[in-house]
Amino acid sequence: MTTETQAEKKKVIFSGMQPSGNITLGNYLGALKNWTKLKDEYNCLFCIVDLHALTVRQDPTELRKRSRQLLMQYIAAGLDPEKNIIYYQSHVSAHAELAWILNCYTYMGELNRMTQFKEKSQRHSENINAGLFTYPVLMAADILLYQTDLVPVGNDQSQHLELTRDVANRFNNLYGQTFTVPEGYFPKVGARIMSLQEPTKKMSKSDENPNAYIALLDPPDVIVRKLKRAVTDSEGKIAYNDNQPGIKNLINIYCSITEESIESTVERFSGLGYGDFKMKVAEVVVEELRPLQEKFRELEKDKKYIDSIIKNNAEKASYIAAKTLRKVKRKVGLPNTI
Ligand code: TYM
Repeated sequence: MTTETQAEKKKVIFSGMQPSGNITLGNYLGALKNWTKLKDEYNCLFCIVDLHALTVRQDPTELRKRSRQLLMQYIAAGLDPEKNIIYYQSHVSAHAELAWILNCYTYMGELNRMTQFKEKSQRHSENINAGLFTYPVLMAADILLYQTDLVPVGNDQSQHLELTRDVANRFNNLYGQTFTVPEGYFPKVGARIMSLQEPTKKMSKSDENPNAYIALLDPPDVIVRKLKRAVTDSEGKIAYNDNQPGIKNLINIYCSITEESIESTVERFSGLGYGDFKMKVAEVVVEELRPLQEKFRELEKDKKYIDSIIKNNAEKASYIAAKTLRKVKRKVGLPNTI
């Protein structure tokens, strides 16, 4: 078998992040860390989903800057832009085209049930736009365009993934096999990292309070300060349970970085006070992010290299996406181009 046919036989992974803020430790532990583990075994596409980010008002200059920084953080975390396709969603117009077609195969009732839509419409009650409502359909298009087998994401995306599977099955039932029906891939620990300030809420890059999250590019002293200020409880003992959500979250962060089991971590640190335990967590977070931050600073200096990746990878993604889009257009009865 030639290398090319072997490569073609590999299963496909697709995942993405919105450039809607500085990506956080939650994004890293819930998704990006897993991507770097899977990147050699699969044919991978990692997208910067900039069209999704438009569902909330963005400052145009900031959005462009953050999109580029996100792309560099993917690479700095260990993704390989020569082997993995790392690209901007807006550079491949097939995403928006397929999303339109799939809109016609998705029900209002399904979209009405999406908890992320409900949450976001509460948070942005001044701007509940149609894009926010059909957001999961664009996400389904992202995934289905590449005949994706596996989607590594955090827990908060499981409902969107179910919808993607439902839409794919519906389309396949109507028109015959067109889309691979994808599976989700969630980390065992770290699939839902919580806010450091309100540990019953998920850590979010769009939180107004920067003390609630650790950004991947936060300098070590900032990481230490934020963890020291993390909200805990008055129980005073290191234990893993829902009555102590702050400590539970810190244990999850620690274990998803060190890959040590929760039981042995709790046992090892059981005698420590919260202050000392927070410092242990801070140490592993700082060390985990140090190489990423160093690589990021190097990449920042290499504008030409980053530009070439953006261009080449968008072309690769467009080529693959066009195949699925052609097939879909033919199946639904759109005329061939002449
Ligand atoms: P986004 O940008 O909100 O988050 C990116 C990834 O990070 C995960 N994540 C978390 N994991 C653990 N703890 C947290 N607190 C946490 N916060 C976020 C998310 O689950 C996600 O994996 N809709 C997606 C982007 C998207 C996408 C796609 C993903 C668009 N198209 C196609 C996969 C496939 C989103 O908003 O991610």
